[in-house]
Amino acid sequence: MGKAENLRARLGLGDGSSPSGALFDYNLVLIGFMGTGKTTISSTLKRVFAMDVIEMDQIISEREGMSISEIFEKYGEPYFRDAETNLLIELQERKNAVISCGGGTPLRDVNVAEMKKNGKVILLTAEPETVFERVKSSHDRPLIENNKNVSFIADLMEKRRSKYEAAADIIIHTDHKDEYQICEEIVTKALASDGCLPE
Ligand code: S3P
Repeated sequence: MGKAENLRARLGLGDGSSPSGALFDYNLVLIGFMGTGKTTISSTLKRVFAMDVIEMDQIISEREGMSISEIFEKYGEPYFRDAETNLLIELQERKNAVISCGGGTPLRDVNVAEMKKNGKVILLTAEPETVFERVKSSHDRPLIENNKNVSFIADLMEKRRSKYEAAADIIIHTDHKDEYQICEEIVTKALASDGCLPE
């Protein structure tokens, strides 16, 4: 059995051989600092559980016809933040989707309110050293582009911590876990909070 089939079987989802039916009648909204694995975990949830994935950064970038860095440079951060808010409102129509947010999306209270209307908010966390390793060679994160070091990341993370934690329905620590373990934790905790699995 492959890892995906194994995980479905462990969760008691049919014989595990293929994804079946919608797991949730709401959305899983992944939040967390840059580099905590939102995109990777979303694609594993898609592969294992056949959930649709909405990558907010990617949609905004496609609609604007430019990279996130270019949007920040050309229009400024508030413009990008408004685009995030508008997209979250639009996404109320969906269910059983994974919404992978940008790292700053939950900083606005109105965004968190939108996420919770039709979704469970899952916070992914990682140590600053882990984040640094994951982001060090990418160049599309304007807020850290000129400060890619562990202490800047740790400071920004600390400034955001209370907002992230206040938004979260479920918190998952990702350090030293593979993507299947993380997805198992997410799905188990989400189902348990619906009363569908023992906590
Ligand atoms: C941001 C995180 C980025 C992107 C933008 C701003 C932030 O998304 O939305 O650069 O404020 O933390 P990722 O978390 O996917 O890198």
